[in-house]
Amino acid sequence: MWFRKKETVHTDEKILPQHIAIIMDGNGRWAKKRSLPRSAGHVAGAKTFKDIARYCNKIGIRYLTVYAFSTENWKRPKEEVDGIMNLLRDYLKDATNFKSENIKLNFIGDFSPLSEDIIRLIEKDEAESADATGLQVNIALNYGGRDELVHAVRKLMQSGKDADAITEEDISEAVYTAGQPDPDLIIRPGGEYRLSNFLIWQAAYAEYWFTDVLWPDFSAKDLDRAIETFAGRNRRYGGV
Ligand code: IPE
Ligand code: IPE
Ligand code: MG
Repeated sequence: MWFRKKETVHTDEKILPQHIAIIMDGNGRWAKKRSLPRSAGHVAGAKTFKDIARYCNKIGIRYLTVYAFSTENWKRPKEEVDGIMNLLRDYLKDATNFKSENIKLNFIGDFSPLSEDIIRLIEKDEAESADATGLQVNIALNYGGRDELVHAVRKLMQSGKDADAITEEDISEAVYTAGQPDPDLIIRPGGEYRLSNFLIWQAAYAEYWFTDVLWPDFSAKDLDRAIETFAGRNRRYGGV
């Protein structure tokens, strides 16, 4: 397809979203359809994540933010939460993750309730990929948009900045995605039409693309379709 070639992208950078965000939803239903435990859906979803991240890097996307675990997902049965955390642990331990592919790993969210070994692995993976110059992947873990804003407000107040002087830029610099462009395109597979507390500050002018395809079945072709639709959108930002 036309946007697959980096040279083509280069000649019209506006067409390719710089920052794509994905709500990786539908793992449980994917497993249920196959009479498998929900954990099997999460395993399959983790594989899809790796494939899609590699594909984004290949076609020249700069930032990919994925919703892996929300501040609300603790409501799930302990067995499922433990399973997701173990899967995360395995993923983090696989130090060869994206190392050879020049992909930079960054985690966003409130890590304080995560176990100590997971926090250490996160720090290790971030440090090991810090110099990568390809795609930056942000993995949202115990992430909630409202929780993020609470932390940002606290940070701003603690900075001692005059309340009347606070700007939108200050808030953008106080949230987890500081220094990064806002997402241009937010994709939600799994058939639901909501944000579920994802990137609520950063999503103000994002374009949305929804599909009924369940996340473990999501393929590069689906991403191509989303990007193609995005390229045809007219982003006016309130102008004419
Ligand atoms: C998304 O898939 C993964 C997480 C929220 C961790 P779900 O587990 O929400 O899958 P469904 O929505 O139940 O199918
Ligand atoms: C959103 O999916 C969170 C993640 C994908 C990590 P959920 O399955 O938790 O969202 P709801 O409950 O359908 O809103
Ligand atoms: Mg879900």
